[in-house]
Order: sequence, then C-alpha cells, then structure tokens
Amino acid sequence: MSAKIKNIVAREILDSRGNPTVEVKIELTGKITAIAAVPSGASTGGAEAFELRDGDLKRYGGKGVLKAVKNINEIIAKALKGKDAARQQEIDNLMIKLDGTENKTNLGANAILGVSLACARAAAKSLRMPLYKYIADTFHFPPSTFHLPVPMFNIFNGGKHADTNLDLQEIMIIPQAEIPFKEKVRCGAEIFHELKNVLTQHNLDTDIGNEGGYAPDIKSTIFAFDLVLEAIKRAGYIIGKNVFLGIDAGANSFYNEKENHYALKADGVSLTSERLVSLYIEWIGKYNLISIEDPLNEKDWAEWRKAFIRLKTAKGDTMVITDDLTVTNTKLLEKAIKEAVGNAIIIKPNQIGTLSETIKTVKMAKKAGWKIIVSHRSGETCDSFIADLAVGVGADFIKAGSLSRGERLAKYNRLMEIEEEIK
Ligand code: PGA
Ligand code: ZN
Repeated sequence: MSAKIKNIVAREILDSRGNPTVEVKIELTGKITAIAAVPSGASTGGAEAFELRDGDLKRYGGKGVLKAVKNINEIIAKALKGKDAARQQEIDNLMIKLDGTENKTNLGANAILGVSLACARAAAKSLRMPLYKYIADTFHFPPSTFHLPVPMFNIFNGGKHADTNLDLQEIMIIPQAEIPFKEKVRCGAEIFHELKNVLTQHNLDTDIGNEGGYAPDIKSTIFAFDLVLEAIKRAGYIIGKNVFLGIDAGANSFYNEKENHYALKADGVSLTSERLVSLYIEWIGKYNLISIEDPLNEKDWAEWRKAFIRLKTAKGDTMVITDDLTVTNTKLLEKAIKEAVGNAIIIKPNQIGTLSETIKTVKMAKKAGWKIIVSHRSGETCDSFIADLAVGVGADFIKAGSLSRGERLAKYNRLMEIEEEIK
C-alpha cells in the first residue's frame, strides 16, 4: 500500500553553478521521506515552462528562489496534504490547476517540478520499489524490458556553457551500444582523461566548463574534433567502431537574427542555414558524427525541415535531435512530428514542469518512432532522478555531461547501480 502525504517542506539550496534552486522534502505517513532537487538551464528554449526567481537584486543577483519555496510551503503543501502519494497524475494535475497558467508562471515550474519528483520518489519508497520500476509501473511502460540508456558524454564544452570561442555548445562521445553500461563509462572516462593529455601537449587549457567537459579556446571548430579523435585513438578506441561523435550545436546562441546568419567565431565565418547544414554533412562524413542536436535556431521551422531531409539523405541513421525546438512540450512535439523536422527528442522534466507531462511527451515521441534522450541541465544538483527516469521510460540515450564533477557523475553512478540490479 502506498502512503499519504503528511508534509511538504521546500528549501533554497545551490546548484552546480552556485545559483539558488529548489529542494523539496516530502514526508508520507509511516515515516517515509524523500527529497528531490530541481536543475536549471543556461541555454534555455524560448517556450520552456517558467522558472520562478525572486528578482530581488539584493540576494543572489536576483536569482533567489524564496518565492518558489514559499509557494510550495504555503500553497502546494496545503493542497496536497492527505493525498495518496502514488496518484502521480492526480497530484500533478492538481498543481497544474492550482497554478492555472499555461507556462506555470504563478507558482513556478521549479516549485511544481520539485514537488512532482519528490512525490514520485516518496511513493516508490513507500511501495519498496526502485524509482525506475515505480515510474515504469505507474505510467505503464513495459518493465520486463528494462535496459540502460546509451550515455552521450559531453567532453568538450562551448557555447553558453563556457567562456571560450567554441560556438558549438557540446561535443559528445557516444560509446558503442553493445557493451555493458559500466564499460561505456570506462570508455568515456579513459577518453576524457586522454583528452587532457592531448590538450596539454597542444598547450591548451584543461579547465572545465559548466558540464564538466574541457573548455579551451581553439583555432577552429574542426580542430576540436581532431583533438577528440586523437584522444580516442590514444585511449585505445576506434572511432566509428567503439565510439562515435555527437554535437549539441545549441544554434540559438550563435544565430544572428538581424542578418539571418550563423556566426561561427572559432572559424571566423558567417553562414546561411543552408551552408551551416552543409558543414554538418561534411562532419558526418569526416568525423563519424551520428547525432546533431539543435542544428538551427528554434524559430526557423522551415529551415529545420529542409535540414532534416538533407542530413538524413547524407546518412540515413543520423539523429537530428530537437531540444530548444520542442522543450519537452507535447504541443511543440506534435508540430515537430507533423512537420518532420527531426527523429529524436531531448527530454528535460524542468522544461515542462511535472513528471506526468514529461512522460506524456516521451510517449508521444515513442509512438512516432522518435528516439528518446533523457537529459540533465547545465545547472545541476546531485539528484540522480533522471537516471531512474531514463530506465523507467526505456530511453535510448542519456545526456548527463562529462566524466567529471559530482553532479554529472551522480547520474552515471546511479545507472551503474541500476545495471547491477536489473541483470
Ligand atoms: P542547458 O543546456 O541546460 O543550459 O539548457 C543543455 C542543452 O542545451 O542540452
Ligand atoms: Zn540542447
């Protein structure tokens, strides 16, 4: 039997960038407690659910979340007390109704999501179930086929996640699917460490960016790819066989709206979307690039459609991933499916604000045959919820950053633990 919600207490904590975020503790009858913390993006999509920040410049430069905390402690807690914690959909709906806005601007998506996630974790505990199994059961995913997602390790940080000239937000290494998860982690870590040696030899900085990947200034975009390939080789792996490359272009951040051009400062060029896509196609051929996230800016649906056709024609199984374009929102995903702009979607619970809505988006994408990539945010905490989420919904991939920084490793370490449980 699951238990009823006895108490909900929220607090302001700090995320991996040192910015305030929301942590929620839920207490159920029977002395069961669970905690969840909310992440925060830096290169956010325009249509994401509303992240409520205080705006009081005397505290944390306006980034405090005391209003969101208060909304939980005084409004949400009151409404949810006595409810069955395992009725996730009902609880999420109640909060959506309580907020009453399309984008969760009243209570804040950061307030609502914290409660939604903590509630799921508490209910799983009360039912003595691992969280991934609870998610699978609650939302009717087939639990008999539990598998681990393939990790996409972001080992080169740029764009809004680093203070350098690399325009691409992320260069990722993706280990081959066939090996155990813990071997994928080893592969990623060995290449990550080798990349440090390669950078040092080229007299480049080995400091890291927001997601734990290296963040040096570089002489050109393809030089960054070359460095990664060198590290892969030196670590004893073969590109195109043991490991593949992926990028999150995060193209919003280098799109110049006035000129309708994409300015790559690392290469000193300004490109039309057509020429930018030609460049991606070149990289697919040269660098075993198998996935491209947010190749173009989020407003240009027509160009996305053309890009998807060209990228697929270049190599049929290329993943064209929507993130800022769809922001885990079923309305936008529906449009994306209809307009055929991609074949894979980033799933970030805080882009939409409740667990139930997140799952709805996953289901819609799966039904359309799209690949699912569950993802962290650049501002994270050590909460590993998305690891269980990825397994629970049977995600194809997970993006949780590099092989350094505790808030990134918390997710990969949890997945290694789950791997042992489900084998
Ligand atoms: P964000 O970046 O968390 O800063 O939005 C992650 C991403 O774009 O995938
Ligand atoms: Zn992204």
